[in-house]
Amino acid sequence: MKDSTASMVICIVISFLVFVSPASSRARQQVPPAIFMFGDGALDVGNNNYLESRMWRDPIRANHSYYGIDFLNSEATGRFSNGYNIADFIAMAMGFEMSPPAYLSPSPIKDFTGVNYASEGAGIWNITNEYGVTIHLLEQVDNFANTTVQLMSELGKHELRKLLSKSLFVVSIGTIDLLRIFTFVSYGRESKEDGHADVQNLIATYEVAITAMYNMGARKFGIINIPPIGCTPGGMQMFHPRPGGCDESLNKFATEFNNGLEPLMARLTSKFDGLRYSIADFYGFSNATFMNPSAAGFVNTDLSCCNRPCHAIYERYVGPPCQNRTQYWMWDDFHTTEQAAKVASTAFYDGLLQFTTPVNFKKLVQ
Ligand SMILES: *[C@@H]1O[C@H](CO)[C@@H](O)[C@H](O)[C@H]1NC(C)=O
Ligand SMILES: *[C@@H]1O[C@H](CO)[C@@H](O)[C@H](O)[C@H]1NC(C)=O
Ligand SMILES: *[C@@H]1O[C@H](CO)[C@@H](O)[C@H](O)[C@H]1NC(C)=O
Ligand SMILES: *[C@@H]1O[C@H](CO)[C@@H](O)[C@H](O)[C@H]1NC(C)=O
Ligand SMILES: *[C@@H]1O[C@H](CO)[C@@H](O)[C@H](O)[C@H]1NC(C)=O
Repeated sequence: MKDSTASMVICIVISFLVFVSPASSRARQQVPPAIFMFGDGALDVGNNNYLESRMWRDPIRANHSYYGIDFLNSEATGRFSNGYNIADFIAMAMGFEMSPPAYLSPSPIKDFTGVNYASEGAGIWNITNEYGVTIHLLEQVDNFANTTVQLMSELGKHELRKLLSKSLFVVSIGTIDLLRIFTFVSYGRESKEDGHADVQNLIATYEVAITAMYNMGARKFGIINIPPIGCTPGGMQMFHPRPGGCDESLNKFATEFNNGLEPLMARLTSKFDGLRYSIADFYGFSNATFMNPSAAGFVNTDLSCCNRPCHAIYERYVGPPCQNRTQYWMWDDFHTTEQAAKVASTAFYDGLLQFTTPVNFKKLVQ
């Protein structure tokens, strides 16, 4: 974080903490003081725009149209969406205006609402996407460490601990790692057994990250699991082109990973005092929508609305995105539309317990 941004953030935190009136603090009673977000393109709100190109490679950036076509002023903010994304809708459900700003963003912010560390293309492993330009999970956690150092010097230990213990920590990552593992297995560079071992290793690295966050003061974790990536336009065509059908063997890897999250969080809860969590079942929610799209107002859950020039690995057509964007689940080959992000986030925040374990995000932050 640039020094000027950091000090601005800190001034704002202090004025926020000092000057909230009793009335506004009552109104915000159920709202956590801040949100910290970690993940990949599903949550990125612009970090990749500030990454330098490395060697001959650029980070994947959503800084051009038609990204943001439905955002305020049709601005391409770095979100991999036609408008807001899951980070925004979770923040909104909690009473914030939108996601907290990108960690690397120098833009001034009016009110400290937390920090978003997410980076498109990022993996749980540091070797995932090793030739890409991203901020992998443990590096995001290091960046959070930087934030806490800055906050500590301004707030002091006690206030910082209070702030962090009441804040929500959202984590949504793993898709890119699973694509890497699946590629290795599909092309025979790795056996199926090695692939399964890799998935367990991902969970182990996830544990390292959550543990590090806990040790720095995080207590409330909102974990979003991996959606059926074999049903995304990218996943459907990457290995075994089969229009209209999902790649079930890719989905199996996602399910295997997801099945590891709950035992992990349960174990960490018994190990660490005060740790609480909610796992949002993005997989289950997506699948339920695919089984009955019209119930949620969707017409097309197979194809992406925006191909080229959005981030699409398969060039199907070049041209403007679909008109009826609220009827599409997918925006580009791997990222959902604003509408899909909205309905999913609503389910995670205060939906019935069908798609959250053991509580929903609303209960978690109360
Ligand atoms: C994080 O802090 C370290 C140590 O102060 C510093 O060297 C590093 O540049 C910081 N990283 C970022 C991204 O600000
Ligand atoms: C996106 O960012 C890159 C790198 O900063 C820049 O070269 C490019 O012109 C930007 N695209 C748009 C449309 O602003
Ligand atoms: C990647 O992580 C492993 C441990 O998980 C570590 O040993 C290695 O040094 C890291 N590599 C980089 C480039 O950070
Ligand atoms: C979605 O759910 C249905 C019904 O529970 C199940 O039969 C199907 O296999 C699931 N699809 C995926 C991709 O997991
Ligand atoms: C979107 O609108 C176009 C043009 O009206 C139509 O051809 C297409 O079927 C619609 N797509 C969906 C998913 O409704």
